[in-house]
Amino acid sequence: MSSKIAQIPLVSGHPEVYEPCDDSFALVDALLADRSSLLEHQPRLCMEIGCGSGYVITSLALMLSPLGSQVHFFATDINLHAAEATRATLEAHDVHSEIVAADIASGLQRRLAGMVDVVVVNPPYVPTPEEEVGCEGITASWAGGEDGRKVIDKILPVADKLLSDKGWLYMVALTANNPSDICLVMREKGYASRIILQRSTEEESLHVIKFWRESVADVNGRQSVASGGTGSWFSQLPFMSSLWQRNESSRT
Ligand SMILES: C[S@@+](CC[C@H](N)C(=O)[O-])C[C@H]1O[C@@H](n2cnc3c(N)ncnc32)[C@H](O)[C@@H]1O
Repeated sequence: MSSKIAQIPLVSGHPEVYEPCDDSFALVDALLADRSSLLEHQPRLCMEIGCGSGYVITSLALMLSPLGSQVHFFATDINLHAAEATRATLEAHDVHSEIVAADIASGLQRRLAGMVDVVVVNPPYVPTPEEEVGCEGITASWAGGEDGRKVIDKILPVADKLLSDKGWLYMVALTANNPSDICLVMREKGYASRIILQRSTEEESLHVIKFWRESVADVNGRQSVASGGTGSWFSQLPFMSSLWQRNESSRT
């Protein structure tokens, strides 16, 4: 398999599983743009939370295939059909990941605490009534509760526990999710952040945010700049977050 990302015709589907869409493509494009940094980063453990069809974790595994067997992959989803679709998508591309049907990373959190070098997440982010959050099947793909933050706010502390000292988190968020506030939440946990991709579709304004621990911010920051990202330096310029938010609202 020579392609660097998953091939749509080989991605497995199911009526109850989220099909790769603009947000999935944005996340994979952001990872692809950061690929040389990711290869230099030499992750040993990568995880996707909410793997759906398996399009993203399969693409990540293909991108990192030059690293060979030194890198291991985990993928979780609360939806059993998604776990099965991910297994089939990985197999069709001849790459491997452990797949766990789990709420975020329950069951793995203790085993993998502080060990995961890359976490990727395209969470359910659509603002919906609270009661839709946690529903089974396809509704779990998008239902994000108030401001679309219900699941995101559960994922952030889990990602913090899972990430290694050099760990990177890539997360998709909408303008409605208040990305600058997500960055502030992570800043309080010691993370720097950067918007590495912004894309507006007819329906939504998507952001892919990259987070890394502030103690290694300088090194990672330079790598993000080198990969051509756009965005702001929340950790180094804390006052920028409100400024950034104002710029954001004027753009959308
Ligand atoms: C927007 S879809 C993204 C799917 C896939 N990653 C992609 O980009 O195409 C969100 C995924 O998160 C899963 N999900 C929702 N809540 C979850 C939770 N609490 N724990 C694990 N996965 C969850 C959904 O079942 C769905 O597959």
